[in-house]
Amino acid sequence: MAKPPHPATLAAQALGWVDDATRAVIPAIHPSTTYLRDPDNQYRSGRVYGRADNPTYDQAEALLAQLEGGAEASLFASGMAAATAVFMALAPGDHVVVPSVMYWSLRNWLLGPATAWGIQVSVVDTTRPAEVQAALRPGQTRLLWLETPGNPLWDISDIAALSSMAHKAGAQVAVDSTVATPVLTRPLELGADIVMHAATKYLNGHSDVVAGALVCRAADAFWGRIKAVRVQHGGILGPFEAWLLLRGMRTLFVRVPAMCRSASAIAAHFERHDHVAQVLYPGLIDFPGHAIAARQMQGGFGAMLSLRVAGGAAHAVATAAGVKLWKRATSLGGVESLIEHRASIEGANSPVPPDLLRLSVGIEDTGDLIADLEHALAGGA
Ligand SMILES: Cc1ncc(COP(=O)(O)O)c(C=O)c1O
Repeated sequence: MAKPPHPATLAAQALGWVDDATRAVIPAIHPSTTYLRDPDNQYRSGRVYGRADNPTYDQAEALLAQLEGGAEASLFASGMAAATAVFMALAPGDHVVVPSVMYWSLRNWLLGPATAWGIQVSVVDTTRPAEVQAALRPGQTRLLWLETPGNPLWDISDIAALSSMAHKAGAQVAVDSTVATPVLTRPLELGADIVMHAATKYLNGHSDVVAGALVCRAADAFWGRIKAVRVQHGGILGPFEAWLLLRGMRTLFVRVPAMCRSASAIAAHFERHDHVAQVLYPGLIDFPGHAIAARQMQGGFGAMLSLRVAGGAAHAVATAAGVKLWKRATSLGGVESLIEHRASIEGANSPVPPDLLRLSVGIEDTGDLIADLEHALAGGA
């Protein structure tokens, strides 16, 4: 049998799908909110109502499931809608273990509304397996949530080791793999049960869609409850956004490696620099999680890095103010490079130091990006 196509081929051709009726190689957008019943009142098409699903999701979900090596994928209205659906599929009283370095808004939701609803949340340093082991409560811990690299310090958690630890305690494992993307890491192959993406970021890649996605290893009862949350809570993606997301995913395997190469060059350039106290990037040999990242990430260490600026918070804010090419904006994963002073957005529960600038590296010329940062760090107006 012929060798199965490389994921880059699957992505470029969106699984090679062609519309039977029109021979179109690009899918249609289906705005319909409702579907015709059969004369005997049944719904043999499987489509009933727009809050349950939409045919425009089909290809994006099928492609993402294949890229992650999973059984099924499900699109959501945002990364937060996808992530919270996983926790909402648990029951009050259930215990979860989550990382201290994670997307700040999800941490705030877990410590606020989720805790108030009865989910018991332990926040631990997931780069330290012993801390995870001590936090797991066999029979009560239902979920270990990982985010690797973890935003915005880029902590690396060992998916394989922690998954086997969690499974022994009877817990499932979900990984926010937004920053790694399926180009660099396939968490399900490393033992995770669910992969989550803020598809707003690299999967779409053009800063013009807010979307989320989950992929399961097995379509089990937990997955069934997660999908029910999407239908019941209505955190669904619009059909136009689903179509744009698929279009973005077609170039994923070109964008991500290019961005990783540029991020790696920028990290190396500023690693020993008068105006930079520390560069946080998993690709640097001295980075604490580098050895695990080298095992767990293939073809690059991601396109996110952070600089701790030598002159402290004021210097960091002034640097972000002084750039001309980098865009001073939140979010990540688009083709344009973004810079952000994170402490001023993350607030009280955040582990982020006040001198930290988060960089999302796009596809511009690396030399231009370095020159712009050099100029801003030196106080250039
Ligand atoms: C790592 C990570 N996870 C989840 C999210 C949430 O995604 P969204 O903004 O699409 O809800 C973000 C957003 O920045 C993120 O960076």
